[in-house]
Amino acid sequence: MASVDSTGSSVSGRLRSGDLLHTGLAVALLLGVWSVAGLEVSVGKVPHLEALNGSTVLLPCTYSSCIGISKLYFNWHYDDNGTMQKLCEAVIPMEGVEPKVSVYHERVEFVGSSKTNNISILLWNITFDDEGQYICFARNPKEKYRNHSAPFTLIVVDQLKEVESTLTVIIVSVLGGCIALAIFGMVIKGLVVQFVLKDDDKNKECLVSSGNDNTENGVTGAKADNKGTPKTPKA
Ligand SMILES: *[C@@H]1O[C@H](CO)[C@@H](O)[C@H](O)[C@H]1NC(C)=O
Ligand SMILES: *[C@@H]1O[C@H](CO)[C@@H](O)[C@H](O)[C@H]1NC(C)=O
Ligand SMILES: *[C@@H]1O[C@H](CO)[C@@H](O)[C@H](O)[C@H]1NC(C)=O
Ligand SMILES: *[C@@H]1O[C@H](CO)[C@@H](O)[C@H](O)[C@H]1NC(C)=O
Ligand SMILES: *[C@@H]1O[C@H](CO)[C@@H](O)[C@H](O)[C@H]1NC(C)=O
Repeated sequence: MASVDSTGSSVSGRLRSGDLLHTGLAVALLLGVWSVAGLEVSVGKVPHLEALNGSTVLLPCTYSSCIGISKLYFNWHYDDNGTMQKLCEAVIPMEGVEPKVSVYHERVEFVGSSKTNNISILLWNITFDDEGQYICFARNPKEKYRNHSAPFTLIVVDQLKEVESTLTVIIVSVLGGCIALAIFGMVIKGLVVQFVLKDDDKNKECLVSSGNDNTENGVTGAKADNKGTPKTPKA
């Protein structure tokens, strides 16, 4: 009896796990469909930019949606140390129709186009105060007003530092070149000296040649003998 009970419970357990699996699959499928159909905003593969003080930068953003858009609302805002500052906003009535963009920042210009799903902006004449995070935000009424956003980080660097770094690069490379030249010169000098000395040695060798040659021959001869001895047993 006990064994039957145990099998019964195990069967119901299997059934339960099967149900779980089914609901899990359904949820996964729903999620998958949702994420495929949903709106996506993107600031590109590299979500940050380092730019010179005084330059004009493009803050890139594009959107895509499989179910299409209608009255797509978007804005750009700047995270000014926690407080959000809206830079611009607009509604794209439908696909391919250009939006009427309201711009709230004197140096921001909308350069996007609905034809390319592009909602990028230009930020003119940047200063160090412009450094920080810019957020591209979009919301599609077709998707029950789900929010989508992508952050883009702007880093502002000083032109002076840039010049300094190039100067250091130049100095380092010039120094390096000088050192390399000095080493090269030393090597050449060394080679020449050695060559001259060798000539001298040869001359000396010529003078005391016979003894030297004999010992060398003796050594090589001994080596040959050593090599020869293991061969003989094999053959
Ligand atoms: C940044 O650039 C502007 C204009 O080029 C210049 O007036 C300003 O002094 C620069 N700021 C610094 C800290 O270098
Ligand atoms: C950001 O705000 C906090 C307080 O709200 C302040 O202590 C901090 O210095 C601020 N940072 C910058 C970079 O302004
Ligand atoms: C950017 O700076 C240039 C030169 O200083 C000026 O002519 C131009 O009007 C500025 N642009 C904006 C949008 O402030
Ligand atoms: C968006 O438009 C701007 C201005 O025309 C352009 O520079 C940028 O490359 C475009 N971005 C994409 C991803 O097409
Ligand atoms: C979407 O963002 C708005 C603010 O722009 C907020 O009021 C709303 O609650 C958000 N909705 C969701 C579903 O997060």
